[in-house]
Amino acid sequence: MNANSNTIGFIGAGNMAQAIIRGLLEAGHPAKQIAVANPSNDKLEILRALNTDIYTTQSNTDVAEKSDVVVLATKPQRIAQVAAEIAGTRPQLVMSVAAGITLATIEAELAAGTAVVRNMPNQPATVGLGMSGLVANSATDDTAKLVASYIGEASGEVVWLEKESLIDAITAISGSGPAYFYLLLEMLEAGAVEFGFSPAVARKLALQTGLGATTLAREDGGELVELRRRVTSPGGTTEAAIKSLEAHDIRATFQRAFTAARDRATELGKK
Ligand SMILES: NC(=O)c1ccc[n+]([C@@H]2O[C@H](COP(=O)([O-])OP(=O)(O)OC[C@H]3O[C@@H](n4cnc5c(N)ncnc54)[C@H](OP(=O)(O)O)[C@@H]3O)[C@@H](O)[C@H]2O)c1
Repeated sequence: MNANSNTIGFIGAGNMAQAIIRGLLEAGHPAKQIAVANPSNDKLEILRALNTDIYTTQSNTDVAEKSDVVVLATKPQRIAQVAAEIAGTRPQLVMSVAAGITLATIEAELAAGTAVVRNMPNQPATVGLGMSGLVANSATDDTAKLVASYIGEASGEVVWLEKESLIDAITAISGSGPAYFYLLLEMLEAGAVEFGFSPAVARKLALQTGLGATTLAREDGGELVELRRRVTSPGGTTEAAIKSLEAHDIRATFQRAFTAARDRATELGKK
């Protein structure tokens, strides 16, 4: 199966569906092979404005009948209901992007043997820089996995998880991760204002430093600790800052935060 030749259907046309669709179009996926269902027309109009060849409708089953693969992109509380609606229609692969909804919950609504993939993306998918964790049920073969990777990679990078429980860990690290970075950026910005910079300059200092550090870390490819060592001269300014952070147990504080997020994801998944 050539992923590019698949018709990819979306149930729900909100932020995440729009992000994936934009990514697919940018990657060269034919707009004629994208179909989208959403109850209200305003979101469908946004997609039609993006490309008039995208098929839009208010009928979930209409999209499912036209599609080789269906992406469930409604809020989590609606996933079981929309999975039940499309049960018995054409798609052999169903991907859900909903947080906290298990493979078993989705499988239970679909025809036996349907390949189901859970995708936990994150917010930067909306600018094509997402990080998605994927996990598949036992009915998903290698070809279906390639198609799922193709959809995930349209909005960033993907990692495949060996077991579903790791989705909660992905949620804690890359799912919630953007918020940890925003918090650090907020603190840099506030620190700069405290030192007398204007809000505009403070924001520039924070954002460019964040972007520069992440880009350099990626391009360099070496160990993060080594990059940090290179800006931390013995007895210098950075060392003074890092010592102050370490004295306040910064690593253990963050590890506790990651664990709290992972445990909360597990708890929400059980509800
Ligand atoms: N946004 C993120 O950063 C992010 C990150 C990770 C995972 N996710 C997951 O992605 C999913 C979607 O999130 P989102 O941020 O894209 O939410 P969203 O913008 O609210 O989109 C949900 C869409 O589903 C539509 N919908 C509601 N009921 C429906 C039904 N019965 N059939 C078909 N469509 C229906 C809604 O339409 P109306 O507005 O017209 O009612 C809305 O357009 C969630 O499950 C979330 O857990 C999102």
